[in-house]
Amino acid sequence: MTAALIDGNLISKKLRGEIRERAAKIPSAKGKPPGLAVILVGGNPASQVYVSSKVKACGEVGFHSVLERYPASLSEADLLKQIDTLNNDPTINGILVQLPLPDHIDSKKVLEAIAPEKDVDGFHISNAGALMVGSPEFIPCTPYGCIKMLESIQYPLKGAQAVVVGASNIVGKPMAMLLLMAGATITVCNSKTRNLSRYTKDADIVVVATGRPKMVTGDMIKPGAVVIDVGINRLPDGKLCGDVDFESVKQVASHITPVPGGVGPMTITMLLMNTLEAAER
Ligand code: GUN
Repeated sequence: MTAALIDGNLISKKLRGEIRERAAKIPSAKGKPPGLAVILVGGNPASQVYVSSKVKACGEVGFHSVLERYPASLSEADLLKQIDTLNNDPTINGILVQLPLPDHIDSKKVLEAIAPEKDVDGFHISNAGALMVGSPEFIPCTPYGCIKMLESIQYPLKGAQAVVVGASNIVGKPMAMLLLMAGATITVCNSKTRNLSRYTKDADIVVVATGRPKMVTGDMIKPGAVVIDVGINRLPDGKLCGDVDFESVKQVASHITPVPGGVGPMTITMLLMNTLEAAER
């Protein structure tokens, strides 16, 4: 078997067209386009690429955006002050603080300082809690994108056996909640899981978000399973690869997401969707 690709660029293109159309209707109703503020502290190279892509995508769908770059020496107090200013800025509907933050800044405190109604990342404790009880307000962008990819192949999630590899607050935990809400039976594995393939081999859907290049291989996957690869890793030769060993897994799976061109563009698309919804509300 050679797996069919779930093309994140293609699905994004369609969704971004819809977002652009809905956004165009907002200025006449409220006098301004949807606005996103992105804050980057420090010079993490991957973060710089991500925030530039986010701001560029805003321009492509007619959103207003601002990118605020600060040196790694920015104090926590000054960052909190800036978030407060953005919370009170009527031209800004969504606020995103790119993670990771420098060690001297308490990320939890920073995320809690963002007004929940502008928390388009869905990381505020009240948005995380809303998802946990099955009434999501803002769904974290990466798992939201993964669910849209499963919807694109009309995968019947009810009763499906799903394994999420990785238990982060950003991806693994919200992913598990979304799959559970959709009626799947979920297993969440983490870096301490013994004999990981015992779980993945049983799964109809495997979502991998570990940050470890090519760690899930074809022999760990059930024939015909759907494999969603959240990882973006840079190899020593400069090439990008996922957390899934694409070459071996594509021989076994029915569907697979590529890296690049899979979950990455979907994460940005769902950020646009959340910002649009914040503006519409
Ligand atoms: N760092 C890695 N992924 C993300 C994300 O989705 N949002 C933010 N704010 N930071 C990240």
